[in-house]
Amino acid sequence: MSNTTQLAAIILAAGQGTRMQSNLPKVLHPVAGRSMLGHVLALSETVLASRRVVVVGPNMPIVEEAARKQAPDARIALQVKQQGTADAVKAARSEMDGFSGDVIILYADTPLVRPETLQAMLAARRSGASAVVLGFRPADPSPYGRLVMNAENGLDAIIESKDCTPEQRAIGLCNSGVMAVDGAVLFSLLDEVGNKNAKGEYYLTDIIAIARKRGLDCAAIEAEADEVLGVNSRVELSQAEAILQNRLRVAAMLNGATLLDPSTVYFSHDTRLGRDVVVGQNVVFGPGVTVADGAQIKPFSHLEGANVSAAAEIGPYGRLRPGANIGKGAKIGNFVEVKAASIEAGAKVSHLSYIGDARVGAGANVGAGTITCNYDGFEKHFTDIGAGAFIGSNTCLVAPVKVGDGAYTGSGSVITKDVSPDALALVRPQQIEKAGWAARFRARFSGKKSGHG
Ligand code: UD1
Ligand code: MG
Repeated sequence: MSNTTQLAAIILAAGQGTRMQSNLPKVLHPVAGRSMLGHVLALSETVLASRRVVVVGPNMPIVEEAARKQAPDARIALQVKQQGTADAVKAARSEMDGFSGDVIILYADTPLVRPETLQAMLAARRSGASAVVLGFRPADPSPYGRLVMNAENGLDAIIESKDCTPEQRAIGLCNSGVMAVDGAVLFSLLDEVGNKNAKGEYYLTDIIAIARKRGLDCAAIEAEADEVLGVNSRVELSQAEAILQNRLRVAAMLNGATLLDPSTVYFSHDTRLGRDVVVGQNVVFGPGVTVADGAQIKPFSHLEGANVSAAAEIGPYGRLRPGANIGKGAKIGNFVEVKAASIEAGAKVSHLSYIGDARVGAGANVGAGTITCNYDGFEKHFTDIGAGAFIGSNTCLVAPVKVGDGAYTGSGSVITKDVSPDALALVRPQQIEKAGWAARFRARFSGKKSGHG
């Protein structure tokens, strides 16, 4: 068979996930900023599945919604009653109408499977095996189905733990749940699956022995245990997070970024770092961050939905919120928060400022403690700071307001009106001086203990 064979993915997401102790369906819990279902949908996309069916349980509208949002082409199948994994795949039957090709079966709670692994399974499937199962060797095989291999290194059966003979129980190679099956036989194999077993469920795993009885070949491919980790509890969710974080750290470094202390840098699934980016200790990347070549993200910075251009510097303690666009060589210093604002090339906001709903023109300098007063309790308003402007320390810019190119604002000013280019705007009461006042004041209290300290 050629590798242009059509591919469908059936994603099992009907489980309640009761062990998560959550109001959120299990498969919507995030790993590296994307739901587990989202990871599996993305995986199905990387192997070019032309048809995708998500099997959901009753009363899971938000799972359906999440699937549709990420994958508008995805079809939703309802498994009315949870009678086992074979029953779940059968629930997808009507949505698979008219499809002929290979079918890959994925669990929505097993988010870390890599595309390369699926490609290897599909290659084995296309070189003759009717079903290919992804196996692994867990430290403790006891909860898993065991893969019974034959002398020709083919797969003869999968036996669920509770149904194993003592001999089978000693097998270390286990079923991850991921399978690639010839779509021409999948549903007819499923039709033969019964529920006479320890759990009284319809086991998908039974299709292997049924296929063998028909003289069809089956095979197994092995993955690392980490890759096929299934998430059932928050403890396993944290393990999945840790595994994926390590993968993302390694990928960032192999891509040319320096991580000064990799284990303290947290990525989102979609973080993109350019070459020669340096990331300091304890940096968190939320979803939607791109950092261009040579930029520096200094320690304790938190970024989400932000775009950092080449050679810019963020932090230490920088906070970039959604819509922050930091231009080439611009500088965002400590305790500076930027939201929905463009800081253009070479501009500097070095200390203790809030810049929201704004533009800071190229080369402008924003002094310490500057605040864009962007919100009146109802609406957000825009602040426009021109190129080369100099905003004095502790300026309040009451939006909507515009500071022209090259203008200055005096320290401590509350700017409520537009400032012309190259002007100085100063809003400040006159300073008064009372000669000798301090000395007289102290003398009044001489002999008494000072109250401060
Ligand atoms: C299953 C496999 C087992 C494998 C293990 C790996 C079967 C019979 N057993 O066992 O060989 O080692 O996974 O973790 O397949 N689901 C539905 N509807 C159902 C039942 C399950 O959608 O009626 C979904 C679950 O949400 C889950 C997946 O299928 O995502 C696996 O179901 P689960 O009950 O966890 O199977 P295991 O007993 O763990
Ligand atoms: Mg399970």
